Amino acid sequence: MTEPERRAAELATLLNRYNREYYQLDAPSVPDAEYDRLLRELEALETAHPELKAPDSPSLRVGAAPLAAFDSVRHDTPMLSLSNLFSDMEASSFATRHAELIAFDERIRRELGIHTASYAVMPKFDGLAVSLIYRDGLLVQGATRGDGSSGENVSENIRTIRSIPLRLNTPTPPALLEVRGEVLMFKQDFERLNSEQLARGDKAFVNPRNAAAGSLRQLDARITARRHLSFFAYAIAQLDGAAWPDSHQHEIDYLQSLGIPAVPPERRPVLSGVEALAGYYEAMIAQRASLPYDIDGVVYKVDSRAQQDTLGFVSRAPRFAVAHKFPAEEALTTVEAIDVQVGRTGALTPVARLAPVFVGGVTVTNATLHNEDEVRRKDVRVGDTVYVRRAGDVIPEVVSVVLAQRPQQASADADLFSPASTPRYPPWSLPAACPVCGSHVVREAGESIARCAGGFACQAQRMQAIRHFAGRRMMDIEGLGEKHIDNLVDLGYVHRVADLYRLTLADLLEMKRRADARDNTPDEAESALAQLAIGQSADLLAAPLDKTPTRWAENLLSGIAASRQPPLARLLFALGIRHVGESTAKTLADYLGTLETVRHAPAALLAALPDIGAVVAASIADFFAEANNEHAIDDLLAAGVTPADEHAPSPELAELLSPARLLARLAIPRLTEIRASQLVQQVNSLEALAALDRRSVIALALPAEVVNALADYLDQPRARAQLQALAAQVAGLLQQLPAQAQDTKALAGQSFVLTGTLPTLSRDEARALIEAAGGKVSGSVSKKTHYVVAGEAAGSKLEKAVALGVTILDEAALRVLLG
Ligand code: IVH
Repeated sequence: MTEPERRAAELATLLNRYNREYYQLDAPSVPDAEYDRLLRELEALETAHPELKAPDSPSLRVGAAPLAAFDSVRHDTPMLSLSNLFSDMEASSFATRHAELIAFDERIRRELGIHTASYAVMPKFDGLAVSLIYRDGLLVQGATRGDGSSGENVSENIRTIRSIPLRLNTPTPPALLEVRGEVLMFKQDFERLNSEQLARGDKAFVNPRNAAAGSLRQLDARITARRHLSFFAYAIAQLDGAAWPDSHQHEIDYLQSLGIPAVPPERRPVLSGVEALAGYYEAMIAQRASLPYDIDGVVYKVDSRAQQDTLGFVSRAPRFAVAHKFPAEEALTTVEAIDVQVGRTGALTPVARLAPVFVGGVTVTNATLHNEDEVRRKDVRVGDTVYVRRAGDVIPEVVSVVLAQRPQQASADADLFSPASTPRYPPWSLPAACPVCGSHVVREAGESIARCAGGFACQAQRMQAIRHFAGRRMMDIEGLGEKHIDNLVDLGYVHRVADLYRLTLADLLEMKRRADARDNTPDEAESALAQLAIGQSADLLAAPLDKTPTRWAENLLSGIAASRQPPLARLLFALGIRHVGESTAKTLADYLGTLETVRHAPAALLAALPDIGAVVAASIADFFAEANNEHAIDDLLAAGVTPADEHAPSPELAELLSPARLLARLAIPRLTEIRASQLVQQVNSLEALAALDRRSVIALALPAEVVNALADYLDQPRARAQLQALAAQVAGLLQQLPAQAQDTKALAGQSFVLTGTLPTLSRDEARALIEAAGGKVSGSVSKKTHYVVAGEAAGSKLEKAVALGVTILDEAALRVLLG
């Protein structure tokens, strides 16, 4: 043996071993990169010494040079199809649901003259049928099904499928073996291929089946090699030089023993009786979505080979086997309109209205298009013919457009010089206003979802908005649970939050009566009266006041009334401004003091407050800028809602709202806080900056790129006005600051820890009182704690306070301290 010969043999042995470890044993011992490295070495060796290239060399896996066309090959044994049967999964009785299956089993048993038939059952793979021919153990041909009598010779492509052995794994191979099976692409490989296609600007494949077919029928097998195809064998078509297995199960076991990937035993049990078959069918429908590959049904085959021979064939299909098909998950239909739906959180979702089509077992008339980018990417337009997919219980979606069928403008419109006709409809785009309430639509940078800016004023969102508004940590409206809110909204008593404050006792009672009538529950008021009349209820007579059927409504009204003067922070939180949670609301209230100030604060001012970034600031300013929200808030004020704790702005604003800090928050490119303070040293106010002409800007002593960005900013028509408005706002605010910047609140600077149960105050109430008086409440006791307020069952915190010598208060003492 020469050295190249020895090395080539060694490489082939290693590569075959690694391949088998990977595909048959599912236990790779080396990383992919090592396999690739050895494969390249073998290729190089074979290029230098072509005589070394074996007919089963692993280097065949990389694909041969492109062909001009595929040769046609005849199938010695025709590639048949299966007859199909369907079940109507909507039907309620087993006999109706599975009528076709029952008839099939009856026919088999009648023709065989037996009581029970045994079937080998397995998934029906949604790929493409191929025939593989092994002579003396060597893979010599791979072919497609074609018309069943002859197909295309795709041997080079088949050899690139790494799970298909190039040589059978046996020392005593049969002289001839023809295997039938399905080439398919796993869902995961399909997703990867499609994202690569899109990244390259190529078209995505509609589904794994199309991707598998497209990949296998590449004239350039090197392309096939880069796609990841898989294979499952399900039958033997020819066998010489070995005993033919006596059942279908043994046939597949035999293939598996030769190293050919076949349906694993747990996926192909042998079953008898229609109940068992139907059970398998239904189990596979349920598993369908979670399988790693697509299946479109299951296949039942009479297991015994002798019985198969008895049953024989009809025209182009065996009589011993049948495909039990699932409802199709994809279908073609046309787009009649593209609407926009507003969700309960304000998210805008484009929805395709479709000509009704039966898919996934139901009739579908709408399909989601997810978001604006998706519509653009798929370029779905009104009038288009589209593939619709509904898999399992998922929402139907538009998969892709059949561009060749896009409606074009009538030819009379097209002029001589236009190269092609023009589509009748333009590309779709999201409307600028919410289709429900007309508020403007916002799409934050980096977000795929666009939202209606009128959250709180938008009908589509009102149920959610009111639930939030009434919540315990927001307006805390006692007695207003979700059930009442839903009824009030559904029955039209409440359109926006302000309506809550105008409800009367009569409204509530009427609402309850209508809700009961709608839900078919007996009217409580009526039945109470009826019982009184027939003198059955002594209880009711004894305590009529406590059990009046109007008590709940009175309670609810007083709950609503009690929420009229909320702390400002709670009111701000209750408005449901995107990105504004409890702590941001508190920051706004603490620093700005009044609702009016918060409402009119420009984004740059808001962004100068602690812990409020640009996105949150923009969201707040945007919310209050929306006219619908303005009206809703005005309406709320008009209905008598007023924050209880409005106060002068915080003295800390004097520092926070320095011109340099504000300038740095105007989103002027390159104007960092340091540059902004250098700028302010030269132009000492925002007003002065707003008045500068371009020449003076250019003359500023700042780096050129900063000066240029600033000049460009000031050239925008709205910029100077924006600066002036900001300056005026800030000046107004600073004027309201208390004369000397010292905190005059009773508990300013004092820190508290609450522990145990107080006799009358809840934790939240005690905290609110302390904070209102300027104190801070923290969760754990330390040397810095000024007071521990202890109630009943106080535990370790109290012990720690004692140990550290911290002053301990009970509720009464706390009240004294609060004044
Ligand atoms: S047995 C005589 N088993 O379904 C045909 N076919 O409609 C024997 N198929 O062309 C086919 N999965 O491509 C069989 N587990 C399976 C199958 C299967 C998919 C395909 C096959 C065939 C078609 C028949």
